[in-house]
Amino acid sequence: MAEIQQKKGLEDIIAGESAISFIDGREGKLIYRGYDIHDLVQGSFEEVAYLLINGELPTQDQLNEFVAQIRAESSLPREIIAQMMNLPAESNGMEALRGIVSSLSFYDPDKNDNGPEANYRKAIRLIAKTPLVVALYHRIRSGGDIYMPKPNLSIAANFLWMLFGTTASDEHVRMFDVALILHADHEFNASTFTARVIAATLSDMYSAVVGAIGALKGPLHGGANERVIRMLLEIGDEDKAESWIREALASKKKIMGFGHRVYKTEDPRATHLRRMSEQLGEETEQPKWFRMSRTIEQIVQQEKGLYPNVDFYSASTYYMMGIPIELFTPVFAMSRMVGWTAHVIEQQSDNRLIRPASEYTGRTGEKYTPISER
Ligand code: COA
Repeated sequence: MAEIQQKKGLEDIIAGESAISFIDGREGKLIYRGYDIHDLVQGSFEEVAYLLINGELPTQDQLNEFVAQIRAESSLPREIIAQMMNLPAESNGMEALRGIVSSLSFYDPDKNDNGPEANYRKAIRLIAKTPLVVALYHRIRSGGDIYMPKPNLSIAANFLWMLFGTTASDEHVRMFDVALILHADHEFNASTFTARVIAATLSDMYSAVVGAIGALKGPLHGGANERVIRMLLEIGDEDKAESWIREALASKKKIMGFGHRVYKTEDPRATHLRRMSEQLGEETEQPKWFRMSRTIEQIVQQEKGLYPNVDFYSASTYYMMGIPIELFTPVFAMSRMVGWTAHVIEQQSDNRLIRPASEYTGRTGEKYTPISER
């Protein structure tokens, strides 16, 4: 029998073709549809969403129309709001998002149509509605007033408005917009691959993104950003950071927000998030979160040769912006919804079932005996 390659965790295995995004892990480059992420951060999240979904940067008219489509879908069915109000107190942000996004499919007239037009309309709905679900979930849980979406605001500005009930500064909106751009797509990461596997069975887009939300929730994937801030809060003080991290490394603890399957150098997303974390530290007069992060970064790099990933500096950035910790991973999801839906569209436009093989390591030749004889 021919030798078949098998690598734990599918490391370096090319599992399919995609024209959506590309990572050069040695050079530390992330490319969306041919454009370097370092250039795309000059634009808006809506522009990048258009690019990822449609394959081209929009003209101003195309962008206006795209934004109008998103705004037209920026509402939630009454039944969904009622469902959110009845979620058990023990629910958490990602659990709620997983359930509510699944329920949104009940109200989508295109739910059973996987054609390109219907898939496009569903992508717009999911991109528009996910931020509303995340913000509303927090408002309901915290028992505060509920703020309706403002149709004239961008996705980033509207989310911050619905979350805080005040108009965020232009600077904060800009930072948040950049964070959304940076998280929007990342090749065959675990959640996107999950979405593609589900889409490839010709199941529907909602099932695919619900599976993706489940994958993102894990601490080895998007759930790491919440763990990073909990680590910083546990350390508490700048002068404790060095001893804490050295001890953690000595006891072989995994340091959240470090390491990556693909990047062997600086994650280009971390470059922008580090800058934002520093800037917010100065602006909010809480420089300790950035300084602690820098100390940790330097030690982990020296001792383990590992670089911070997207989740490391997004944690202190979101924290200083006042975003509730429980929403860190849901915020990642509302951005990555763009990538997931773009990948579902791409998968279903040239589909073949994704069904790999496994290397069997179990027993063979066992003799069956009736249960009464065992
Ligand atoms: N802290 C400490 N050691 C780490 C580490 C971390 N965050 N990430 C990787 N390593 C070490 C592993 O212990 C392993 O060492 P060993 O070879 O001596 O056993 C080596 O680096 C390779 O790690 P491995 O877990 O096999 O890499 P992977 O490609 O399977 O996993 C991640 C990649 C991202 C899952 C992994 O780096 C990780 O768990 N990071 C922390 C969680 C995180 O931040 N996730 C968000 C990713 S964007």
